[in-house]
Amino acid sequence: MSHLFEPLALRSINLPNRIAVSPMCQYSSVDGFANDWHLVHYGSRAAGGAGLVITEATAVIPQGRISPQDLGIWDDRHVDFLARIVHFIKQRGSVAGIQLAHAGRKASSPPPWENRSVTLTGAEGGWPISAPSAIPFDNCSVIPTALSGAGIEEIVTAFVQAARRALLAGFQIVEIHAAHGYLLHQFLSPLSNQRTDQYGGSFENRTRLLREIVTAVRGEWPDNLPLFVRISATDWVEGGWDIDQSIELVRQLLPLGVDLIDCSSGGSMPQARIPLGAGYQTHFAEQIRRETGMKCGAVGLITAPAQADHIIRSGQADLVLLAREMLRDPYWPLHAARELGHLTPWPAQYVRAAPAHTPAYLPSK
Ligand SMILES: Cc1cc2nc3c(=O)[nH]c(=O)nc-3n(C[C@H](O)[C@H](O)[C@H](O)COP(=O)(O)O)c2cc1C
Repeated sequence: MSHLFEPLALRSINLPNRIAVSPMCQYSSVDGFANDWHLVHYGSRAAGGAGLVITEATAVIPQGRISPQDLGIWDDRHVDFLARIVHFIKQRGSVAGIQLAHAGRKASSPPPWENRSVTLTGAEGGWPISAPSAIPFDNCSVIPTALSGAGIEEIVTAFVQAARRALLAGFQIVEIHAAHGYLLHQFLSPLSNQRTDQYGGSFENRTRLLREIVTAVRGEWPDNLPLFVRISATDWVEGGWDIDQSIELVRQLLPLGVDLIDCSSGGSMPQARIPLGAGYQTHFAEQIRRETGMKCGAVGLITAPAQADHIIRSGQADLVLLAREMLRDPYWPLHAARELGHLTPWPAQYVRAAPAHTPAYLPSK
């Protein structure tokens, strides 16, 4: 009996299985708009049987984009095409999630295939960047401007407006991106946040912005729909953000109405030494889940069906999120079901290629 294909109930939403497509930037938008690439990319992974498809980091304001080609949701005009993608994902029986993001001091960068980690100049299509403190990410990045109190308020409002648009587009889950060294993680980590106001210094102060955004978004996002937060459980750097602070943060997020913590790590410090290996971040999900009672998602080098099934069966996490393996194989969930001996439905159009007795899934209207 596989556990990977058990449904997961989150408020009024039922994930048909425990497999999620982890957020992955596609660097394929113009002015933040989704297009045919996004429809095919997310659509194939929904057709491939993922229970949850979460969009890439979707910028809440243009200055919060990682690159000029990032997906965005700062304008009501972004909603229409996103709604088309959501409609297709739902038709395939999958659940549609959106990751809301601001890149802070890591904004205004070229897409990774350009292979140069510099801050883009205005002439290259870049823009001035801001962060909690005027500390650059590395020696290729420009020094960001420290956000003013008014600047912080604008960002809180932008997250709320983005959540409102996500609901209009039909998304069923919102994930707030507070990981990988982007703006909200920059506030959490004492290495990137050296403010002396109510947003810096103590743990209480460094976590304040994330708590304010979660509270404000939860106020906008309907009670019957789930809210996730992605965190980096550790900076992997001495004196930085770590697992103990993550556990304390999650204890505070639970009563604010967060339904699941998506447990990643790293991304905030270029000098971090990360012990990469199969499931290298799963123990963070396990520890946070055990010590806080929060539902958790595990991510990071989860590639084999038996490995993913074990994570769910042994209670290390409630959900597994796969990124690069889903790029290699959009049909990973269908292949995993075959390997684990689970008869999950295949798209009716493909059922003749499926194992014997596989039920056919007909799209809903
Ligand atoms: C092409 C690519 C783009 C990514 N973009 C995002 C993103 O937009 N938001 C995010 O939280 N993580 C992003 N990630 C990180 C993944 O979601 C995931 O956490 C990481 O790749 C580890 O999982 P994996 O070993 O299954 O690839 C990205 C990863 C890749 C490979």
